[in-house]
Amino acid sequence: MANVMGFFHFLLLLSCFPFSLALPQINSNSVLVALLDSHYTELAELVEKALLLHTLEESVGKHNLTIFAPQNEALERNLDPEFKRFLLEPRNLKSLQTLLLYHIVPARIESHSWPNSTSHSLLHPTLSHHRVQLSRQDSTGAKFIGTARVINPNAVNRPDGVIHGIEQLLIPRSVQQDFNNRRSLRSISAVKPEGAPEVDPKTHRLKKPAPPVKPGAAPVLPVYDAMAPGPSLAPAPAPGPGGPHHHFNGMRQVKDFIQTLVQYGGYNEMADILVNLTSLATEMGRLVSEGYVLTVLAPNDEAMAKLTTDQLSEPGAPEQIIYYHVIPEYQTEESMYNSVRRFGKVSYDTLRLPHKVLAQEADGSVKFGHGDGSAYLFDPDIYTDGRISVQGIDGVLFPPEEKSKEEKKTIKVATAKPRRGKLLEVACRMLVAIGQDSRFTTCHV
Ligand SMILES: *[C@@H]1O[C@H](CO)[C@@H](O)[C@H](O)[C@H]1NC(C)=O
Ligand SMILES: *[C@@H]1O[C@H](CO)[C@@H](O)[C@H](O)[C@H]1NC(C)=O
Ligand SMILES: *[C@@H]1O[C@H](CO)[C@@H](O)[C@H](O)[C@H]1NC(C)=O
Repeated sequence: MANVMGFFHFLLLLSCFPFSLALPQINSNSVLVALLDSHYTELAELVEKALLLHTLEESVGKHNLTIFAPQNEALERNLDPEFKRFLLEPRNLKSLQTLLLYHIVPARIESHSWPNSTSHSLLHPTLSHHRVQLSRQDSTGAKFIGTARVINPNAVNRPDGVIHGIEQLLIPRSVQQDFNNRRSLRSISAVKPEGAPEVDPKTHRLKKPAPPVKPGAAPVLPVYDAMAPGPSLAPAPAPGPGGPHHHFNGMRQVKDFIQTLVQYGGYNEMADILVNLTSLATEMGRLVSEGYVLTVLAPNDEAMAKLTTDQLSEPGAPEQIIYYHVIPEYQTEESMYNSVRRFGKVSYDTLRLPHKVLAQEADGSVKFGHGDGSAYLFDPDIYTDGRISVQGIDGVLFPPEEKSKEEKKTIKVATAKPRRGKLLEVACRMLVAIGQDSRFTTCHV
């Protein structure tokens, strides 16, 4: 099963490139490019997280698009945090996509096409296949889309579409329903993740719970936030024996794997970071309880000892380092070795988005990372239970582009270049990587 998933993931990765090559129609004057460059950055970011770029590119080639773009505030401050978390959970990718596509009509609706009075509301099909209602309030003349007031009509007008700024997010009924169902399911679920793993009574090694976050300290990143939906994410595995509502005790499994790491020897630093320095053990337990599978690439103590205090002391740094070592897939030594043997190089998603970790065959083993910063699979299958897999490695991995990106950032600030949408950046990076950037003129800005 793990092999099949790995292979499938790899096919998806491969298929990215032919798709990107097939975008000759998109031009820099497109409404889509305008969205990515607009000040509707929260929406653009969600579109990216929802993996909708390709769908929209195809769509804008066929018809005009009208995009109802909620202002940033609607997505930042004015959204129920629980609902937002729901949208960002990988397994709710479909809900997020439905919600976003509900904001896009495959036709041109300009400001003057709004009905004149409440009694003449118009229904338009959206890309989500739910319909939205255009209406006008008689008393004020204000334009509405569903329940949201249009605050910036024709904010952007391009030959292939328009963007209207709206006051709040539109939530299609089916998504609201999914959210309600999930919430009631959670409230009756038997297993609640508790605090950090406790003890092995014999060794007393894990007795100390994760310290509370100090007031004023940088908030500990929840794994959910670090984790955006990606093609590699397996859907939640079949429910356990307790029936469809049974939740798995992920906390116990995380506790098991950390005890195993400690008893195995040579991985105390990693265990310590997970349990004592951060609350990542708890976060992982929660994810596994929810049905996710994880592969942890655990650097051994020697590798950890080479980390400088600089690398560890920035707020959130230990979390960021660990996120880059967690793959949201279940992989064993065998499945990874088979993949790299077969395909040469394989990129795995990590919880440190958007960074992937490269794996390739070297000296009859699996080597992770690039150049100097690489690490070998050193202690295979330290722990495997079907959901969590722990593989010991002999180096600490860092995303390769981190350094050059930071340099770029400072240059950008200095020359005050116009801000480019995050999604566009991803698209450009991808095109540059395969030598096709000249088609996407905005990439040269
Ligand atoms: C988009 O709308 C413009 C203006 O109405 C029209 O000229 C153009 O043909 C439309 N494009 C598509 C792909 O339908
Ligand atoms: C709105 O009213 C104007 C004039 O009163 C009319 O010409 C126009 O067709 C109306 N538009 C709609 C969409 O009903
Ligand atoms: C966490 O800290 C305690 C106290 O410093 C230590 O005894 C324990 O070994 C640490 N846990 C791990 C997993 O290293």
